[in-house]
Amino acid sequence: MSEAPSGFTPPPYPYDRLTDVARWAAAAFEGTGGLVDCSIGTPCDPPPPAVVEALATSGAERGYPPSIGSASFRNAAAGWLAHRFGVQVDPSIEVAACVGTKEFVASTAQYLRLRTPDRDTVLYPSISYPTYAMGATLAGCRAVPVAELPGGGPDLDSVDPVDADRALALWVNTPSNPTGHLTDLGPVVDWGRARHVPVLSDECYAEFTWDGPPRTVLSTGIDGVLAVHSLSKRSNLAGVRAGFYAGDPELVGYLEEVRKHAGLMVPGPVQAAGAVALDDDEHVEVQRARYRRRLDYLRGVLEGAGLPTPDPAGGFYLWVPVPDTVPGGGFGLTGALATRGGILVSPGEFYGPDGAGFVRVAVVQPMDRLELVGARLDGVDLSSG
Ligand SMILES: Cc1ncc(COP(=O)(O)O)c(C=O)c1O
Repeated sequence: MSEAPSGFTPPPYPYDRLTDVARWAAAAFEGTGGLVDCSIGTPCDPPPPAVVEALATSGAERGYPPSIGSASFRNAAAGWLAHRFGVQVDPSIEVAACVGTKEFVASTAQYLRLRTPDRDTVLYPSISYPTYAMGATLAGCRAVPVAELPGGGPDLDSVDPVDADRALALWVNTPSNPTGHLTDLGPVVDWGRARHVPVLSDECYAEFTWDGPPRTVLSTGIDGVLAVHSLSKRSNLAGVRAGFYAGDPELVGYLEEVRKHAGLMVPGPVQAAGAVALDDDEHVEVQRARYRRRLDYLRGVLEGAGLPTPDPAGGFYLWVPVPDTVPGGGFGLTGALATRGGILVSPGEFYGPDGAGFVRVAVVQPMDRLELVGARLDGVDLSSG
């Protein structure tokens, strides 16, 4: 190649920016329990044994799996939506599989843009999972953040009407990663329908809703909406890559066709295991209790270290305000927590510039590991870094 490419250069992957701090904290705590990694929201607990068994015994290895999802996977997804949220969807035309939801979040803007080339904008929460904005970028679209209302959810009055006219989709995420806030979905859907902007509702933490029953956008009807769900968090299956989207049959139908052409397929054994997982709620109750206990414990530890932290309304993250007295903002507090507590967290700016005054702590470590952090931080005041 003679000339350097002048187009897109991928930015550093957010968590790769923690490599140095992770390395030196791991060295500093070597022999005394090591680093306790609460940065990435990756589950540490086991999936149910029946699910693991289904992975090995489905017999679905040989043939290509259906891109849209097997009938049993889609039936299980529809059944779960019915018993958990009280909503009815037709599994044959209103539900389809995705290969974990990150790829769906990252690729959908591209497919919507191909279909509606006169729109070029993706609206997404200004403090959020970074893949909504990245999906817009990968589609060659404008990623336009929408500020959050004080209690959570998008402040739609703040959206420029020009951006609304150009919008291919509005992403919402309830419960929110990282803030733990819930969204009042009714007004959001009304806004989208009035402007012909599909509302894509990422609900992968729905089972871990602490403040009231779990919410889905499908409760508002299916017209112009998609709910996006994952088995990664609900059933500790992030390693097998299984999720689904459900809602407006016209949108589902378009996306399932284009995704077939792109060769996106959830492996057959994973679909079989996913159906078993969706049919079982007992393991989710156990998991809810684990996260609840860890959230309460770690909140207490942080409070004791001079870092008062709100109780999240949902999800398994603590969104910790950085005291003004801490030098270096979110990165500064990340460094202080690693140095004093041997705990790795994520600076809030990973989730957008509006998150800069926070750090995110994922309670994805067993209690004994969190207690180690508690012991290290006993008597330590981090309020000034
Ligand atoms: C808000 C949100 N959406 C989607 C995902 C992607 O999850 P998966 O691809 O494992 O389904 C994550 C993962 O952390 C997330 O936090």
